[in-house]
Formats: sequence, structure tokens, C-alpha cells
Amino acid sequence: MDMRPIGVFDSGLGGLTAVRSLREILPEENLVYFGDTARVPYGGRARETLLKYARQDVRFLRTFDLKAILIACGTVSTTSLEALQAENALPIVGVVEPTCRRALLVTRRKKVGVIATLASIRSGAYEAALRRLDPAVEVFGKACPLFVPLVENGRVDRGDVVIETVAREYLEPLLDTGIDTLILGCTHYPLLEEIIGDVCGPGVTLVSAGEESAFELKRMLKARELRAPEERRGEVSFYVSETPENFEDIASLFLRENLHHAARRINIDEY
Ligand code: DGL
Repeated sequence: MDMRPIGVFDSGLGGLTAVRSLREILPEENLVYFGDTARVPYGGRARETLLKYARQDVRFLRTFDLKAILIACGTVSTTSLEALQAENALPIVGVVEPTCRRALLVTRRKKVGVIATLASIRSGAYEAALRRLDPAVEVFGKACPLFVPLVENGRVDRGDVVIETVAREYLEPLLDTGIDTLILGCTHYPLLEEIIGDVCGPGVTLVSAGEESAFELKRMLKARELRAPEERRGEVSFYVSETPENFEDIASLFLRENLHHAARRINIDEY
């Protein structure tokens, strides 16, 4: 039994999709969430910048006595996971492997699409992981750089002509390839699940990065005997690097639970 919290981080709101899965799958665990809202979006930045940001995010989270970290960010997972794992003596789980494993379980024709940020697509990490796990798979990647800013601005609802137009423009060429499975390789994208699902139709199964990595974390905690006692309900604390206005409202709406603690602002440059 281990009562220490799990650290979870992302550039902004996207990692909440992983927090929601963690609250369902591991309700007994305490979570410390950091959203780097002062520097969102990460997706168009260079690898060195991303590593610098990721190191700072981890250094801040490690001011808590954590038992593990979940990188609830596709962009950091695709560019900085190995470095972070090598530098930190605690288990760190990223989103790429678990998501790819799930996609390969559900694809029928072995034609998998990946949508993610520019940095993630440029890294080739999803494609490499899919091919490593199944050399016969065909992979079609597409960067969707406008999705994250639209999500951060709340443009996620059906009937919003802006997000619907952008989604069609990104996804229709991808559908022409004949994919039957689509990896939402950025943790912001499940907030657009309805919009993406409407464009893709029922013939394409969506696989969400945050959810699969939450299952991976559960397996890892169990294997290392790091789980908290199951009869309790854990708490979540939120930290952000920009004024936390609206963050709690959006977070509680999204997580479908009242948050006991207000989000607190920290200065990420100090880490
Ligand atoms: N949600 C993150 C990801 O999964 C970062 C998106 C961004 O900040 O551009 O890639």
C-alpha cells in the first residue's frame, strides 16, 4: 500500500482527459495535476524547448513526494519520455505505447490513422511504436495544429461551425486512406470526440491517448505494489502556471465532480 500521490501533467486542459480516466480506473489514488497554461500550446515547439518545459514540469511535480508520474501529453511523450525516465528515479508512464497497443487490438484492416500535434507527428513516435508492435500495420499521420487552441478556447461543441469546418478539413483526406481506427494522439482531442466521431462516422474506431495510459499506470502500480487502499476516495489538487480563472469550472464540468481544492497558480520559471 502506498498513499503517495501520482503526478500528472500536460500543457493545459488536455491532461484532464487522462485525469477523468484515472478517477474512474483508480478512484482511490491522490493526484497532483499540473497544467502549464502559461505556455500552452506545446505542439508547435522545437524538441529542445519541449524537453526544457517537460523537465521544469517534472521538477515542480517532484516537490511533492510522488510515487509515479503520468505524462498526460502526447507531445511530451513523443519527444521527451526517454530523457525524463533516464533522469528520474520514479516510474514515468507516457501515452504512446499503451495507445498504440490498444489501436492494434481494435483495427480490423490494419490501417490506423494518427492525429496529433505537429511536434508529435514530426517525431514519428506513434508510427514507430505501431510498426514495432506490428510490422504489417499501415499508418497515416496528420498534424492538427488548430485543434488545441480551439479546445483551450472552449470551441468543442456540435454546431460550432469553426471547429466543425476545421475538423472536416483535417480528417476528410485521412478518411480517404481507408483507415478503420483513429488514434487521438493528443490528450486535448478527446474533448472533440463528438465532432471527430461525426466526421469519421461509425466505421472508424477512436482510440484515446489519455484513457489507455491510465490503464497502463494501473497495471504498473499493481505490479510494483504501489496502489493505495481501494476503500478510499482520493483527492485531486490542481496547479497551473497562468491565472487559474475558469480552470476549476472547466475542470469540474469536464470531470463531472466538485473539486475540493481551487486550482493554484505557480511560477514555473522557478523550477
Ligand atoms: N495535450 C498535449 C498533447 O497531448 C499538448 C497539446 C499542445 O499543447 O499543443 O500533445
